[in-house]
Amino acid sequence: MSGVFLDIQGIDKRFGDLVVLRQINMQVKDGEFLGIVGRSGCGKSTLLRLVAGLETPSAGRLLIDHQQLTGINTAARIMFQDARLLPWKRVEENVDPGQFNTGEDVNQILESVGLLARKKDWPHILSGGQKQRVALARALVSNPKLLLLDEPLGALDALTRIEMQHLIVKLWQERSFTGLLVTHDVEEAVMLCDRVVVIDRGQISLEIGVNVPRPRLRGSTEIGKLCQVVLDHVLSSTAI
Ligand SMILES: Nc1ncnc2c1ncn2[C@@H]1O[C@H](COP(=O)(O)OP(=O)(O)OP(=O)(O)O)[C@@H](O)[C@H]1O
Ligand SMILES: [Mg+2]
Repeated sequence: MSGVFLDIQGIDKRFGDLVVLRQINMQVKDGEFLGIVGRSGCGKSTLLRLVAGLETPSAGRLLIDHQQLTGINTAARIMFQDARLLPWKRVEENVDPGQFNTGEDVNQILESVGLLARKKDWPHILSGGQKQRVALARALVSNPKLLLLDEPLGALDALTRIEMQHLIVKLWQERSFTGLLVTHDVEEAVMLCDRVVVIDRGQISLEIGVNVPRPRLRGSTEIGKLCQVVLDHVLSSTAI
């Protein structure tokens, strides 16, 4: 299993008169984990949707392993803040509705996210954190080369959030997919990612490498300094 090389070349995105993204140029290496932060409304989700092939660029192009993306990005899976589980399907059926599974054992992925014992349960009895684990298992069961995370942990309590962060890093290390994580939590971006970009008014205004070996220590001086740089930059960016 591996990831993809993502090459974003001069992307603009407009909705009518509204210019959401302007001249985005960015490369994400095969297997890299990139964090994307920025004020609400700056265009983070739009960028992820473009990479997923759910939106088309107004200008520029997007290459996946050197091939221009023209429709849905079949290499990618996306995970949102809400789990979006089907209430009428049990946990195991939510993970594998039978459409994409390329053979990975549903039991195996449920075991990886710590929910094997809950596979026959209905989604409504699960906690918020457990639902997100199911959503993560569903995103990963087809062994995607690219995982797009749009504030996946935004609605979770602090402790569950930290546990989920560890789980995401563990699965990324095991599977080597390319990851894009949109988050409002600067510390989360710095703890999880190889590199963090800040988007300000539709443009990349800061790019910073997190050259800290894993496992990373929350509260360490190195992590703290990087968080401060990113946070200061976000705070000085323009409110929309
Ligand atoms: N389909 C659409 N049609 C019109 N405008 C849109 C559409 N999708 C997004 N926008 C606008 O694009 C801008 C950026 O939206 P986007 O969802 O990418 O922001 P975001 O950075 O993800 O914000 P948040 O942090 O609140 O999730 C917003 O002004 C939004 O209203
Ligand atoms: Mg968003």
